[in-house]
Amino acid sequence: MSENIIYCYSGSGHCLNMAQNIAKVLGDTDIVMMRSFPAKTDATEAKRVGFVFPCYGGGLPGHVEEYIKAIKIAPGAYTFAVEQFAGYMGCGLHKIDQIVRLDYWNTISNHSTCIWLMPHVLTFPPTSKETAQKRLDQKAAEVGIDVKTMQHSATRPPEKAFFALESKAFSGMHPKRVKKFVANADCIGCGTCVRVCPQGNIQLVGGKPSFGSNCIGCLSCVQFCPKAAINVGKITEKRERFPNPHVKAADLSKPIIHID
Ligand SMILES: Cc1cc2nc3c(=O)[nH]c(=O)nc-3n(C[C@H](O)[C@H](O)[C@H](O)COP(=O)(O)O)c2cc1C
Repeated sequence: MSENIIYCYSGSGHCLNMAQNIAKVLGDTDIVMMRSFPAKTDATEAKRVGFVFPCYGGGLPGHVEEYIKAIKIAPGAYTFAVEQFAGYMGCGLHKIDQIVRLDYWNTISNHSTCIWLMPHVLTFPPTSKETAQKRLDQKAAEVGIDVKTMQHSATRPPEKAFFALESKAFSGMHPKRVKKFVANADCIGCGTCVRVCPQGNIQLVGGKPSFGSNCIGCLSCVQFCPKAAINVGKITEKRERFPNPHVKAADLSKPIIHID
């Protein structure tokens, strides 16, 4: 049993990269992926239990809220959470705090991986990918030390009630959007999209991906396709992908990653 557990959700790898860097500071950490149902819900032997996740549609991605409700944490364990977002933090941290009562929380902004909505370089103020990654690295180092020394935040995460509505509306849009997912002629039928989909929503039919209706909009398939062949309608055709350069598609599909 590891001393620390970090529950992580990540669509394009940026939160996984951050969770790994926090774990390197902590040592002896299991990173449990919350993509399909978490591989481990019993965290009662961990001294520190954390959550690293992105803001999606103003709230929590996919089924993260249900996952966290299923996790058992020992009374007195230290709890923490870090949220990544592009423009605004939304209500995700507040939702987790309602379930777990966080001792410590922090946030960090990154480029947006939601490339059907906007190009990832559209940041205010403009920031290069390299600078955004440096910021993630610095924040991970800062959080790692805070968590290792069990610092406590002075305030609770803000409620941001409006974003609970946005989050609900956003999840309701996935069934319509999934009809726009298409693989173009550059597709080599490698099956990366099949393996990286947290929902098991993609199958290869005649060597090409076929998209089912069970999409949660994480865009892992779009971001990690080695040929950038998967698009959401026409809008993403000319948009650069933005997966984390330190994370491989295969890392995202591992249920648990141990860091010594
Ligand atoms: C489907 C989707 C929805 C998103 N919604 C928001 C949002 O509402 N607000 C925001 O500030 N950023 C939003 N983002 C940006 C992500 O929070 C940000 O890019 C994050 O770094 C992605 O982390 P990941 O690579 O671990 O998934 C969204 C990204 C995606 C893919």
